[in-house]
Amino acid sequence: MTGLKMIGIGRALPGRCVTNDDLSKIVETSDAWISERTGIRRRYYCGEGESTNTLIVSAARQAVANAGLTPEDIDCVIVATVSSDYASPSVACLLQAELGIRENIPVMDINAACAGFLYGTATASGMLQVYGGRYALVVGGEQLSRLMDMNDRSTCVLFGDAAGAAVYERDETADLCVDLGSRGNLEIEIQGCARPEPSVIKMNGNAVFRFAVGVIPSSLNRVMAKAGLTMDQIDWVVCHQANARIIDHCAKKLGAPEKFYKNIDRYGNTSAASIPLALYDMWQEGLLQHEEKVLAVGFGGGLTWAGALLNLSLGAVK
Ligand code: COA
Repeated sequence: MTGLKMIGIGRALPGRCVTNDDLSKIVETSDAWISERTGIRRRYYCGEGESTNTLIVSAARQAVANAGLTPEDIDCVIVATVSSDYASPSVACLLQAELGIRENIPVMDINAACAGFLYGTATASGMLQVYGGRYALVVGGEQLSRLMDMNDRSTCVLFGDAAGAAVYERDETADLCVDLGSRGNLEIEIQGCARPEPSVIKMNGNAVFRFAVGVIPSSLNRVMAKAGLTMDQIDWVVCHQANARIIDHCAKKLGAPEKFYKNIDRYGNTSAASIPLALYDMWQEGLLQHEEKVLAVGFGGGLTWAGALLNLSLGAVK
């Protein structure tokens, strides 16, 4: 697949911070249970005037600016979400209008749940290859708080709202190595957004946990094999932030646990936003200032998964 280099990153968080203690006033839970079983300490929920669309627009604007570009430079827009404000128009089209991105380029949403950002990255690579162009904007964003059943303590404590965005530049020097998959699931281990409203996310947490710890190492191993790399040639590993125990388990299985980044404590599971959100924090923390190779993997409802080797060239924090 056409190679991509990530040259800009952005993120947006809504204004309302919700701690584990806050949730323990709504459902029968505790800070101790949530932090021990998941690693989550707080998450953010949208308030008045905030939604999936506003978060995505804000993260995308930041990513384009951090890439040193203007919206007119963008040649392809892919948005990954399971919680768009409308079925149509797509969030990508609304983003195009808000930022003033030009016409005559591919602009669309995709739904691959928490694997969405990496599915979106692969889609952008394909679009640039087939349709031409140099720069792709890929955004993952969610307002999952509006899909929560606040009576279901095993699910409602896990998720949060956020958006993360990346600008990629076409790179002819290296292929994009990805591993995309799905296990169409008849028992529906994670179900959300059922229409008609009201809709809530329902999930068999134990089954999803087992799925995740199986698919993460196998997907990452396939990506490394495709790239002809071993773990010692990788700078960082960024797993979809769903549960710290899932990440720790996989880090142990794959070795080099010091390369596995975690920020789930700050945001909870933000689905399609979680991988770019982690990359943004790493960049801000000074961990991504040079040319880095980052192995990333997402997994989620569907059940979908996606692994990818991301080549980063973000430069110093401005
Ligand atoms: N607070 C307190 N107790 C809770 C609780 C909460 N928020 N949620 C569940 N419990 C209780 C259960 O009722 C159960 O009680 P019981 O033993 O009296 O029946 C006990 O904790 C253990 O439940 P269990 O489901 O076995 O816990 P767990 O350790 O497997 O953790 C998840 C549950 C959901 C955190 C975990 O399975 C998980 O993270 N799964 C993956 C989910 C995921 O990543 N989904 C998104 C994919 S993108």
